[in-house]
Amino acid sequence: MSTVFLNGSFMPKDEATISPDDRGFLLGDGLYEVTPFYEGVPFGLDRHVARLLRGLCWTRIDYDTSGLEEMHRRLITENGLEEAERSMVYMQITRGAAPRTHYFPEVEVEPTIYAFAKEWSRPADDVWNAGFRAVTVPDRRWSRVDIKTICLLPNAMAFQAAKDVGADDAILVRDGVAIEGAHQNFWAVFGGTAVTHPVTGHILPGITRSVILEEAGSIGVPVEERPIQVEELAWADEVFFTGTTGEVRPVVEVDGRQVGDGTVGGVTRRLSDAFLARVEATKEAGRAVAS
Ligand code: PDD
Repeated sequence: MSTVFLNGSFMPKDEATISPDDRGFLLGDGLYEVTPFYEGVPFGLDRHVARLLRGLCWTRIDYDTSGLEEMHRRLITENGLEEAERSMVYMQITRGAAPRTHYFPEVEVEPTIYAFAKEWSRPADDVWNAGFRAVTVPDRRWSRVDIKTICLLPNAMAFQAAKDVGADDAILVRDGVAIEGAHQNFWAVFGGTAVTHPVTGHILPGITRSVILEEAGSIGVPVEERPIQVEELAWADEVFFTGTTGEVRPVVEVDGRQVGDGTVGGVTRRLSDAFLARVEATKEAGRAVAS
């Protein structure tokens, strides 16, 4: 039985209960974050908490984030994940339980916070090296997807549409632009330059994306942040996704058409290696702090 965190207490998962009046349940009125841990060391936790804080401000959910780092670390230890190569903490904060109204509750309501930890794994090397397949799907989400809300039905429908045709993920297309994946940011490489959508209300500003932008700078991969027209994918040399549990994920086929020469490209490999090196450095720094 895993140990979860609910409203200030750690408890066995089967003891965690939430009100049916919770606005997260009734209205999708809440936010979430997924933060990776590598051998018990958090990766980018400060950035995840900062993104959450921005979302809390935008949605006017009043929650003090100061205890979140300690809560994350304790969930990892309570669940015996300190040695796990890869684990993560999922946390969600909703506006809380109140009689259902479309406006925010007029009386003060305590937000509901729920979090759990679990292990995850990177695909086996041969699977990663073979690359993944994606299909384009219309982006039917709202226009503030920079807020990491728990309203993920359009993402789930897009991912399911990809799964239904045997693909590994969806590329969401809005007004002819390849925006991002159903749960990852999207990149294409043209003539050695890695291109990704700029941060607007139409993408989630991924933490992994921000790390890759930095790593590209330090290893000398040119980067451009601009919309990618879906037609351009026909002549992209490489395509890949980035995200917390996907890390850098190469795509070798889009809508049944081979990307570049159909193999995982050199820029994708270099960025993936740089990302994994950053993970190693973070682990070492995290262990040094702990000892
Ligand atoms: N997904 N775009 C979308 C729509 C996402 O849902 C995510 C994250 C990302 C990548 O963001 P980051 O690098 O911060 O993980 C981009 C999380 C992991 C999820 O829903 O499980």
